[in-house]
Amino acid sequence: MTDFPFEIAATDGQARTGVLKTTRGEIRTPAFMPVGTAATVKALYMDQVRDAGSDIILGNTYHLMLRPGAERVKRLGGLHAFSGWSGPMLTDSGGFQVWSLANLRKLTEDGVTFQSHVDGSSHALTPERSIEIQADLLGSDIVMQLDECTPFPCPKDAARESMELSLRWGKRSKTAFGERDSQTLFGIVQGSVFEDLRRESAERLVETGFGGYAIGGLAVGEGFETMCEVLDFTTPLLPADRPRYLMGVGKPVDLVEAIARGVDMFDCVLPTRSGRHGQAWTDEGPINLKNARFAEDQSPLNEHINCPASRDYSKAYIHHLIRCGEYLGSMLLSWHNIAYYQDLMARMRAAIANGTFEGFRKDFRSGLRES
Ligand code: GUN
Repeated sequence: MTDFPFEIAATDGQARTGVLKTTRGEIRTPAFMPVGTAATVKALYMDQVRDAGSDIILGNTYHLMLRPGAERVKRLGGLHAFSGWSGPMLTDSGGFQVWSLANLRKLTEDGVTFQSHVDGSSHALTPERSIEIQADLLGSDIVMQLDECTPFPCPKDAARESMELSLRWGKRSKTAFGERDSQTLFGIVQGSVFEDLRRESAERLVETGFGGYAIGGLAVGEGFETMCEVLDFTTPLLPADRPRYLMGVGKPVDLVEAIARGVDMFDCVLPTRSGRHGQAWTDEGPINLKNARFAEDQSPLNEHINCPASRDYSKAYIHHLIRCGEYLGSMLLSWHNIAYYQDLMARMRAAIANGTFEGFRKDFRSGLRES
């Protein structure tokens, strides 16, 4: 497997900034990947996603294999051509849906069978089929191994079994992936909240050898403090010269704290999902534009962010749109939230490069409203 070059330009404490160089373009790290589950970052044009500062987006095996079908995406030219996103794309393997659709699936050693949440039809996903869908049919640049996202809380015996299943699936994923010039495969560390399980998972994944290492099984109900503790002992177990990806995280403060612990990549539905529900993210925390206090507030969401949604529309106007259930309200808030997240990432990359990340982190934490 050819690993994408990963050049770390500066470190500050455990935090790192650099570039991951894929065949389809460079990813500045730490990087936030907007989620494009169904071949769209909901409510946004791809140009808006890119111009807001996104270098890479995420797609989902599970959803695309149901609709429109992975073979159909292939016939239509692959996921990049189909969706109009020409930059790097990472696809998740379906391992998250093993957790999120727990009552619609059956798990065996071979793989997982889902009952479609759309029409009830049955769909099998094995490590080999997940690689085929991601790498050959969708044509993603960064492919994730199939894993089981372990639920929380989880007794230690069950967490060990789940972690070991993910390790076996990781090996099968690597064999199925084979040698490829312009795509890479990431392994996923599991082990719930148990330090010895996380250690064993990380060590055995590194033995197998992947182009990057993800930390899975977090943001599943364990809470902020526990997530930070798991990161405290997990990131040091991962090779310093490969990208580290914390899956499904998170709020801005989660990103700040994970970056302080050496994480390089993130994805989360939060900026787009909360935007569709009337929320805008700020350095003080989220605000809800439905709130009557914005009815005559003529200020923009954030005049310092180089994005029309952040800079050129008043809170009063967006309040009105959200109150009326207008599509444009959801579109503007999704756009602003992606731009806010990418601006935050850019500020953190700059702080790491300047050696001022600790100060940034303290200021950020103290600027948050109590919640
Ligand atoms: N997204 C968030 N958490 C996980 C995880 O543990 N595994 C996978 N495959 N995706 C995730």
